[in-house]
Amino acid sequence: MNGNNKKTVLSGIQPSGHLCIGNYLGAIRNWVALQDSHNCIFLVVDLHALTVRQVPSELRNRCLSFVAQYMACGIDPEKSLIVIQSHVSQHAELHWILNTLTYMGELNRMTQFKDKAGKHEDNINAGLFTYPVLMAADILIYQADLVPVGHDQKQHLELARNIAQRFNTRYSETFIVPDGLIPKVGARIMSLQAPERKMSKSDENLNNLIALLDPPDVIVRKIKRAVTDSGSEILFDEKRPGITNLLNIYLSLSGQTKEAVEEHFIGKQYSELKSELSERVVEFLKPIQRQYSELMQDKAYLNSILKKGADTARYLAQKTISKVYRKVGFVPYKR
Ligand code: TYM
Repeated sequence: MNGNNKKTVLSGIQPSGHLCIGNYLGAIRNWVALQDSHNCIFLVVDLHALTVRQVPSELRNRCLSFVAQYMACGIDPEKSLIVIQSHVSQHAELHWILNTLTYMGELNRMTQFKDKAGKHEDNINAGLFTYPVLMAADILIYQADLVPVGHDQKQHLELARNIAQRFNTRYSETFIVPDGLIPKVGARIMSLQAPERKMSKSDENLNNLIALLDPPDVIVRKIKRAVTDSGSEILFDEKRPGITNLLNIYLSLSGQTKEAVEEHFIGKQYSELKSELSERVVEFLKPIQRQYSELMQDKAYLNSILKKGADTARYLAQKTISKVYRKVGFVPYKR
């Protein structure tokens, strides 16, 4: 991990709901592509997940399931570190320090906070508010250069950059200021039933999302029911978010250009787009689901990967937190 000239990539996903094709196309696909050229760390951010109420046994199972899904999607534990956030206590330590450098006004501006506070009015906890600072800690603790995420994380990433710069100005150069990597295609996959909103893995209405583990008949049904718009032409058109979303998913999975996709569907009906899209999604997910089932049968193997990930991650994170503690003026612990 260390000791080469490669740059560091860091990203993570919250273990809530069901991993969906939005997460794959916006994030995981890019992670897979970066594994050879970069030192990569991919987190399952369980501390973040506690900002909404969780059933403990479900959270535990979901974390392991997400690890297996990362691997089934192509994250290779021989090349990348797969890490459960709570296995590395330095995230929470750095979170505290960075909290003292972040202003209430900045956090008040976070659109995701407003959104989530609206959805969980009975549980607007302090964790939900300072969540973006924990995300900054996740990134900065590993001195990450590059953070591949979907479009919805742009504002959080900008905050992480600002916090890094602020620390560096106040205490001297310490953190790398990370760059985001948002894909040109697939960064904003929208809900199937409400295409003006993003597809979310924790949506209560499962018809809004295509989960990576959805069986073929469920995928076909969900796409068949997806909202389309009035009109009949199959074109990318911002004013027709339903059809544009389906086309975007098709585009992301086909690897073709927008023009080629539009040309392919000239004179065809919405129902043909839906059935071709279903077929592509089902075929694409088949090998992922097969691999996932195999991996989930060997929990000891998954745990060994997590141990290796945590051991290396702790080593890297400790180097940063020691430096940070020294810079802010804490008394060093002497053995
Ligand atoms: P989360 O768990 O909501 O989403 C995980 C990743 O999937 C992307 N994504 C999408 N991309 C395209 N279309 C969609 N509909 C869609 N929905 C989600 C997200 O942009 C993200 O890349 N705060 C983060 C998790 C996090 C993190 C980090 C990310 C915690 N620490 C450090 C990067 C670095 C979150 O809640 O993502």
